[in-house]
Parts: sequence; structure tokens; C-alpha cells
Amino acid sequence: MQAFQTSFSKHPFELGCATSSFQIEGAADSDGKVPSIWDSFCQQPGRIKDASDGRTACEHVLRYREDVALMAELGFRHYRFSISWPRVMDAQNRPNAAGLDFYKRLLDELAQHDITPNATLFHWDLPDHLPGGWLNRDTAYRFADYAQLIAKELGDRLPRVATLNEPWCSAYLGYDRAVFAPGGRNRSDALVAAHHLMLAHGLAIKAWRAVNPSTSLGIVLNPELCDAASASPEDEAAARMAEIERNDCFFSPLVGRDWPAPLLQQIKGAEAIRQPGDLGICAQPLDFIGLNYYTRSIATAPKTAEDAERGYTFVPPIGQAYPLTDIGWEIYPEGLSRVVERLKSQWSLPPIWITENGVADNTGLSEGSCDDRMRCDYLRSHLAQVQQLRQQGHDIRGYYVWSLLDNFEWAHGYTQRFGIVHVDYATQRRVPKASALLLQSLMRTASATN
Ligand code: FCB
Repeated sequence: MQAFQTSFSKHPFELGCATSSFQIEGAADSDGKVPSIWDSFCQQPGRIKDASDGRTACEHVLRYREDVALMAELGFRHYRFSISWPRVMDAQNRPNAAGLDFYKRLLDELAQHDITPNATLFHWDLPDHLPGGWLNRDTAYRFADYAQLIAKELGDRLPRVATLNEPWCSAYLGYDRAVFAPGGRNRSDALVAAHHLMLAHGLAIKAWRAVNPSTSLGIVLNPELCDAASASPEDEAAARMAEIERNDCFFSPLVGRDWPAPLLQQIKGAEAIRQPGDLGICAQPLDFIGLNYYTRSIATAPKTAEDAERGYTFVPPIGQAYPLTDIGWEIYPEGLSRVVERLKSQWSLPPIWITENGVADNTGLSEGSCDDRMRCDYLRSHLAQVQQLRQQGHDIRGYYVWSLLDNFEWAHGYTQRFGIVHVDYATQRRVPKASALLLQSLMRTASATN
């Protein structure tokens, strides 16, 4: 791909970079910030691969000026970040002025550098003091209070806001697979959490619009593209079941539709949890949808007793036709187009932003620079897919690379590097990698040709 053309539609195309609060901010207990479920989870032995935590991370709360200047230097005009709920509200659910002040200063800095913010309200760092977390319906109402606070305090400076990032991960990795905070292992709980998350989304949109009706509001999902391992009816059914869990579970409430029967069968006490009127709350009109895409999955009929309950087992890519990244995910650029096309055939979607796409490429520094070729190739091939989709008339308005900085990669700790900027965690020195320079040159050509 030579230049990235931005002129296929009447809407300006955004090329941006993304981060999230817990993964970069550090300052875990500064200025009245209260613990999140991730702060607690990291303290539990064996949860994080390198036994690390988010206490320091990239010290972004201290170094945000440097980070914004770096973004500007690289040519970014769009930045997606998340607000840390436990930084801006205290343990009594009252506003924390010092925490809010950090985001006000960050927004000032972005404005000074002509970078448009794209904020997410919840990227997994749930306040730890909320009893029961997402298993408690009350958490959805507390989330609406938090959304309303941000709408009042920062709303006039945030043109675009997403409620949740990847609720599948919060629900299933957090409550069924014990991979994410809070580390639960119960299938029905994951569905309870999923329902409360989608309810929280709907309540938050309503609460925000009551304060600031002009903000563009949406949600960020990570739809899965599941291919069957073989053409057998069992494997095909398994792939469909995986998509029901990962996609329909979140897309159907957005349109006010009940979950498909296989999901409803997995939740215990559904009547008490899914109360009358809930679906109407979930289905608020959306101004946009954010899609995160990294790879696809391959499903077979369930191979273990636990998977029998789920209805599928994921298996490694067959024949290694496509290379794997350092975290072991298959590089499958066509999946980006296929997932957009598949979703559009199933649901009526508002304008789309690709809110995350990126790669774990752990190439280190050598003589002061980082030649992350795998990432450069990955970004080129995935941007080419976006370009092609836009050429075909799909309303895709932006692409955000994950991530600006190497950062805390959840259960993998600091062992996986997703940044286009290398971070030396001992010194906090930032060095743009070859991929950052590639994007810089694409953005230069794009602005020169438009
Ligand atoms: C996504 C998360 C993001 C990051 C990338 C690699 O699922 O939203 O925080 O961890 O994966």
C-alpha cells in the first residue's frame, strides 16, 4: 500500500492511536484514586504472567504532556483513551475532583496539540468497592451515575464517547474463564454480568443524553469471526455457537432483541435478572459502533466437559497457513473485512470505527531503534482491508492502532508489547518504532492528498 486514501466518502477519515487507563496510567493510589478490580486481581498470586501490576505502568499520569507531544509529533490528530472510573469517583461514589482534574489537564493538552479525543468510559477497571461487581444489578445504575458525572464535567469537550470496551471480555473472561478480574468461574455468572453490562450501557447513554444530547455516543465490541475447523455439521454448529456467545450476546440487546435460545438456556434465574423493560433500555439509538479486530478463531465441536457447556472448543489454526504473532494470534487480515461483512448481513449497524487493531511484536531496541517489521506488515495489510471496505462503500470512518505505547497487557503483564512506541519500563523512555514512523508517513501522504 502506498498512500492511505481518505477520500472515498464524504466523511473525513480518522487515523488515530488508542490506549486505556489501567494499561498506561500508573498512579494507582494518587490523588484519591480508589482500587479497581484489576488492582486487586494483580495482587493475587498466579493471576498475572510476570506477577506485575498497574501501579506504575507507563507513568502516563505523570508523563501525559510528553505522551501527547509525542502523538502530535507522529502526526496523530485523533486519540482514543479511557477514563478510569475509580480515579474520578471515591468509595462513596462521590466525585473526586483531583482525579477529574487529571482528565481536564489531559484534554487541555490534547486541544493545544489539535488532537481530537475519543473517550471510552469503561475499559475494565471497575471500582473494587462496588459489591458484587457486574453480578449486581446496582452496578449498572452506579455506572449511569458515573456517565452522568463525566457528561457534566467533561461532556462539552468530548465529541465522541463509547460506554463500554469489549463487554464480552468483562463478562466471560472475568466471570467464566477466570482469566480477567475478578477471576470468576461460572458460566451463568458470565451471562448475568453480560446482561448487567448491556443494561449499564443503555442507562449510561440515557443519562449522558439527558445532560448533553449532542455528543456522538456508541459502544466498542470485539466481534469474533469463528471459522469451523472442518465442514462437519458438528464443527459448523460449534462455530455458530461461539459466534452466538461472542457476538449475538451483545448485538441483540443493542437492537432490543432477546438472546438466542442457547444463551437463555445457560443463565440461571433469567426471569429475575432480565427484568421487564430491560431490553428497551439496552437498545438506545447509537451514533456509532466501535469494532476491535485482531484475529479470527477456529472452532470444533466441544472437546472437554467444560466446553460441552459452552458448545465449542477453539483450536489452533490448522496447517499454519498464516503466521502467528508473538502472543500466538494468527495474522489474518481478510478477517477484518469478513467480520464487517458478516455483521452487516446480520444487523443494521450505525457508522463504524475500527477502534482497535494491532499486534504483539516483541522486537526490542537495537542501537537505539526498533525495527518492528511484523507490526509494519500487519498494519499495512489491515489498513489495506479498511481501505478496500471503504472503497466498496462501507461506512467506516476511522481506524485506531492499538497501541500508542507498550503497556500492561492484562493477564500477560508486561510480557507482550503492542505499542508503536517502545517503552523502557526501567527508565520510562519512549522510542518510536519503525511502525510509528510508517504511520507518520501514511498520515503525511494522506493529509497531502486530501
Ligand atoms: C483488546 C483490549 C486492549 C488490549 C488489546 C491487545 O482486547 O481492548 O486493552 O489488551 O486487546
